[in-house]
Amino acid sequence: MTVRLGDDAPDFTAETTQGTINFLDWKGDSWAILFSHPKDFTPVCTTELGAVAKLKPEFDRRGVKVIGLSVDEVGNHSEWEKDIEETQGAAVNFPLIADTDRKVSDLYDMIHPNANDTLTVRSVYIIGADNKVKLTLTYPASTGRNFDEILRVIDSLQLTAKFSVATPANWTDGNEVIIGSAVSDEAAKEKFPEGWRAEKPYLRYVPQPQG
Ligand code: BEZ
Repeated sequence: MTVRLGDDAPDFTAETTQGTINFLDWKGDSWAILFSHPKDFTPVCTTELGAVAKLKPEFDRRGVKVIGLSVDEVGNHSEWEKDIEETQGAAVNFPLIADTDRKVSDLYDMIHPNANDTLTVRSVYIIGADNKVKLTLTYPASTGRNFDEILRVIDSLQLTAKFSVATPANWTDGNEVIIGSAVSDEAAKEKFPEGWRAEKPYLRYVPQPQG
C-alpha cells in the first residue's frame, strides 16, 4: 500500500518492546513519528536509534510520540538496546515494533524490493494530531538520517498548521516566514497589520508569528 501526504494514517496493532500497541490508541491526540530501520545489530541503525533517544525531550516538547520498527523480533530489539545504550550513551526510550510478519511494513510500504526484498528501508512518517500523514521520507540503508531535520520539519508543520504562512528553504525556528500564496494582499493586511517585506508580489516575508 502506498501512503501519501494527506492520507489517513493506516492503523495497526503490533508487538513492541513496550508490549502490544494499537497505533492510533497509543498515539491519541498527539503527533507521531513512525520510522523504520533495516536491521538490528547493524552500525548505521545503532547510531540512528541513539540519536533519536537523545532527541526524545525535543520530540516530547513538541507533543510528538516516537515509534521505531524493523522486521526483527522483540527479543533481538531488547538485546540490541543494550548495545545502543553502551555505544551511543543513550537508552532507547521509545517503543520498537517487531514486525516479523511484515504486516506494518506492507501497510506503510516500507519494503522496497528493488533495494532489498526482505528488509525495511529507512522510512519516516510524520502523522498529525488529526491522524493525517504530514510527511514521508525514504532513505537507503547506507545513509543515516538527520533527525534534527525531522525536528525542523515538525516545527514548520506545526507553525504552518496554525498560521497562514509557509517556511522558506533552510528555515529554522525563529526566522522569517513567507505569507502563503493563497493569502491575497487584502487578507494579508488583516492577518499581518505590521506589514511585510515583498521581494516580488508573490514573495512576501514576515517575522515568524508567535503563540
Ligand atoms: C546499517 O544500519 O548499517 C545497515 C543496515 C542494513 C543494511 C546495511 C547497513
